[in-house]
Amino acid sequence: MAKILLTGASGYIGSHTLLSFREQGYTDIIAVDNFSNSHPEIYDRIAAISGMPVKHYNVDVRSDAFETVFTENPGIEGMIHFAAYKSVPESVEKPLEYFENNVSGLVHVMQLCKKYGVKVFVFSSSCSVYGNIDVLPVMESSPLNPPESPYAASKRIGEELLQSWAGTGAGIKIINLRYFNPAGAYKNGLLGELPLNRPANLVPVLCANALDPGTAFTVFGTDYNTPDGSCIRDYIHVSDIADAHVAAFVYASNSADTTFFRTYNLGSESGTSVLEVIRVFSEENGVTLNYTLGPRRSGDVEAIWADCSLALAELGWKPRRSLGEIMRSAWQWTLNYTKS
Ligand code: NAD
Ligand code: WQD
Repeated sequence: MAKILLTGASGYIGSHTLLSFREQGYTDIIAVDNFSNSHPEIYDRIAAISGMPVKHYNVDVRSDAFETVFTENPGIEGMIHFAAYKSVPESVEKPLEYFENNVSGLVHVMQLCKKYGVKVFVFSSSCSVYGNIDVLPVMESSPLNPPESPYAASKRIGEELLQSWAGTGAGIKIINLRYFNPAGAYKNGLLGELPLNRPANLVPVLCANALDPGTAFTVFGTDYNTPDGSCIRDYIHVSDIADAHVAAFVYASNSADTTFFRTYNLGSESGTSVLEVIRVFSEENGVTLNYTLGPRRSGDVEAIWADCSLALAELGWKPRRSLGEIMRSAWQWTLNYTKS
């Protein structure tokens, strides 16, 4: 089995993807993370679930020390690059930090991939590259409207750099994955999102509120042109996203195209409103949530969901886990880690 390097491996999606690769029989995996938004204990949880320790490096992908990972582990074939900053509001406060990590960091990873002969590169992009869309569902061929945040701009630039690089016949096959709204946790709640910062995404906000309903959270906007007035998003189970990386790696590995560059949407293909998410979370978990209806949040698009037929046709991937499973696993994980 190929040797794979994951950057951002102790983060939310990286850790689930590490498990998906292991479940598919990949044992030669190297994890890199600087713990700027994650905890080293995530590796212990992965080891406990998979019965195998995680070979990992505490390094920043922008540093010279990152090269040591390649010299100490010759023959890396696959690069799965998650390491980046990911908060939309924080990117508005600190745009240059986002450009430096998400763009300069990416370029450094590309340089080392070139130097050490990596064959396949999988990039974490985002539905935010579509900007304010006009036609739903969104397809990979849908126009990319101006980015609504520095974060979205950093992902769009990353995509363009990678596509341009592939087009030169650099000899590295590149898959660009646009995630919609990843949520939920590994089965039985054994692994999940453990960020350092206060949660801002909807499902972690619901979990925090269910745990401590003392302070109400806000539903951002109930005057949108949607059936119940709240925003619509495409929530996709994080383990489905993780599985797609394995399928993408295999698909790219098998291609003989020297300019290989493909983009895929990863979503559930259905839109769910904020108020529906709240209802499903409460019903599935038997909890009462404390919320108020508030004004719109700046920068939010009204509704977005994905068409994923390309990933189904080419990668043979489709989401297998339901919205209910997303909500149950997220809550079970919250209960598990707050007890431990
Ligand atoms: P995360 O913050 O949980 O994971 C990212 C990991 O990268 C963290 O563990 C962090 O410590 C690490 N990291 C950041 N900069 C680093 C650096 N310079 N060197 C080494 N490690 C570094 O985020 P996530 O949700 O797992 O997201 C993973 C990727 O997917 C990111 O590129 C993100 O932009 C993208 N993405 C996430 C979402 C989402 O909603 N979670 C949606 C679309 C795209
Ligand atoms: C979902 C919905 C909020 C919190 C962002 C990025 C996207 C991707 C996923 C990285 C929205 C509403 C939220 C709250 C609320 N990330 N909400 N009250 O903004 O759709 O997407 O994260 O790439 O690129 O843009 O996700 O979870 O923040 O919000 O009403 O306390 O929940 O307004 O409608 P978002 P989210």
